[in-house]
Amino acid sequence: MTSVLSETPDVHIGVASTGDGASIASLGALALAGSGLVQPCPLPLGDAIDQHGGRVPLPYGEGVCHTARVGRSLVGMVYSTPPIRWISSHPEHERPLLVHQLVEIELLAVAEQHRSQGIGTALLEHAEAHARSVGAQFAVAKIRAGAFATMRWYRRRGYRIAAQGEPLLFTTTHGQPSNVSDGNDGHHLAVKPLDSVTVLQRRSPANGPSHLIPVTSSQGDR
Ligand SMILES: CC(C)(COP(=O)(O)OP(=O)(O)OC[C@H]1O[C@@H](n2cnc3c(N)ncnc32)[C@H](O)[C@@H]1OP(=O)(O)O)[C@@H](O)C(=O)NCCC(=O)NCCS
Repeated sequence: MTSVLSETPDVHIGVASTGDGASIASLGALALAGSGLVQPCPLPLGDAIDQHGGRVPLPYGEGVCHTARVGRSLVGMVYSTPPIRWISSHPEHERPLLVHQLVEIELLAVAEQHRSQGIGTALLEHAEAHARSVGAQFAVAKIRAGAFATMRWYRRRGYRIAAQGEPLLFTTTHGQPSNVSDGNDGHHLAVKPLDSVTVLQRRSPANGPSHLIPVTSSQGDR
């Protein structure tokens, strides 16, 4: 299913198809450059898209690739996945229960000549809506330290930017306390609750490191 942006009706958002691999690999390289990673473009993702389409089987769950098209040109993409590192940090028997708790925005990019038309926001909203539909509580993204424009972009779309090393502490829908961190590799965690009643608050206990926790909005502030 595709949808059309109201402000730019020639832009169609949908799920990637086989044959999109090369374009997605190029946009993925832009996303990696934007997030400060110096790896070559993520060709394994391009190959996986060509093999499976926009729903890529992973060790836990699936990655979903939404695309933005103008005519036949692919001008933007977002690739979201269950957070494999976080899932793997739990005992094996718990992992299947954790697949849909969180979604990680892994890659997001819009071709330069199509920026500032709402396409990036629309892609992010589609990834979040998909995550909500499978029951995810939070969307998370990792933003390179110092990437202030990217931080501002996520903040203006409802994300709370954690300090470096500052985790999100929360309880899974199965009642298990858990925490998500930035991985201590030079990034900040950006987190957004996916329901309309939860907000994040920073707690800075005297006897421990600061962290973010979710509270219901009647208790909290925005
Ligand atoms: C960040 C990005 C996806 C935004 O896409 P977009 O289609 O231009 O976004 P929208 O049109 O929905 O939003 C426009 C906003 O993005 C800002 N913007 C434009 N280019 C930007 C850039 N390179 N970095 C950050 N913000 C940017 C605009 O100033 C505008 O800001 P505002 O909402 O505060 O007014 C796009 O700029 C991009 O692909 N950047 C390179 C890759 C990257 O950094 N990805 C994010 C990390 S994975």
